[in-house]
Amino acid sequence: MLLVYGGGSIKRNGAYDDVTAALREAVNEVIELSGVTPNPRLDKVFEGVNLVREHGVNLILAVGGGSVIDCAKFISLGSGLGEDEDLWYDYVETGKPAPENLVPLGVVLTTAVTGSEMGGVAVLTNWARNRKLGYTSFPLTPKFSVLDPTYLLTLPAEQTTYGFVDMFCHTCEQYFSLPSDDNLSDEMAEAIQRHILRSWRACRRHPRSYEARSNAMWDSTFALNRVISRGKEEDWVTHGIEHALSAYFDISHGAGLAVVHPHWMKYVYTSRPEATARFARWAVNVWGVDSTGKSEREVAEEGIEHYVDFLRLVGAPLTLSEVGIPADPATLDKLADHAGDVGGSYRRITRDDARAILALCVTPVVF
Ligand code: NZQ
Ligand code: ZN
Repeated sequence: MLLVYGGGSIKRNGAYDDVTAALREAVNEVIELSGVTPNPRLDKVFEGVNLVREHGVNLILAVGGGSVIDCAKFISLGSGLGEDEDLWYDYVETGKPAPENLVPLGVVLTTAVTGSEMGGVAVLTNWARNRKLGYTSFPLTPKFSVLDPTYLLTLPAEQTTYGFVDMFCHTCEQYFSLPSDDNLSDEMAEAIQRHILRSWRACRRHPRSYEARSNAMWDSTFALNRVISRGKEEDWVTHGIEHALSAYFDISHGAGLAVVHPHWMKYVYTSRPEATARFARWAVNVWGVDSTGKSEREVAEEGIEHYVDFLRLVGAPLTLSEVGIPADPATLDKLADHAGDVGGSYRRITRDDARAILALCVTPVVF
């Protein structure tokens, strides 16, 4: 078995001891791959693939957060490819589906963020090319995931904040998209968002509360296990732009999202009637805005303002300079080129739109 982990947090939160004690009985040889970094990189994946091949590994166990899980997913994929296939060019860049019968992956989760524990999505950085890309294929889905909230009790405040930003953003990127039919997905997305806000406050007040951390785990898994994307186009523009930020500046994913997400909202909320209506509904149902006597547009703006105020309250960055990214024209061009034509639902975001959104990120959103 290959045990994959990061920089050592699992040795401080009890997960390593629990896992190795359990494995002593069950597995005859455990190979370790440590040092997976946040924003996991291609070269670490190759290290893991070599270990799988060298030792005839038949189970990969990822113990850690989204970065460790995603790295392990790519190790599983990479070790299932033929000699003439290239993991990065043939799969990550093109999105070609993964083959079946990969080395199975299990997970012991230590963050509440990405939902990677319950899906086939994985994100990888090719540092040599400054490219950070998401890749989705069902065979990457873990065969099992263990979610024990006690491992989250050691999470630093900053990491906790970024985790909540990410999961909140995930729900938004499914919810703020066409069609606007009456459907259960959107009702569930609102419930998850309200609950995320509650768990967020609880984890801030009581970082060592089992109940609060347990709720955070449920929130993050359900934010991105694809249940609330049923019947929705989805719109991953904010993620597309953020990946450019972390590909060049290696910042925390959640920090980059906090900067970009409200600006994306302001950029699209009047792009079509369905968008304004949806943002107004969100303001009322998630932020408790009183719509009496106000136009849909005013209600929508109040909702976005509540979101920005909340991000400010929890200490999330709101501008590029707060995450150490200069907003000079050459940098904005480079970031926009990475983002490219990002897609979108209410409004298609081209490379130039992405640059315009990035240019707005020099100040917090105001109306
Ligand atoms: O490396 P160690 O020592 O383990 O420390 C980690 C790391 O420094 C630390 N940490 C993890 N669990 C801890 C802990 N510290 C104390 N106590 C614990 N219990 O936290 C730091 C960040 O870890 P990381 O795994 O990077 O965090 P997260 O779960 O936020 O994952 C982020 C990565 O997932 C990608 C992001 O882009 C980023 O690369 N994403 C993956 C997605 C997916 N697979 O579906 C979707 C997301 O949108 C996201 O893009
Ligand atoms: Zn994310």
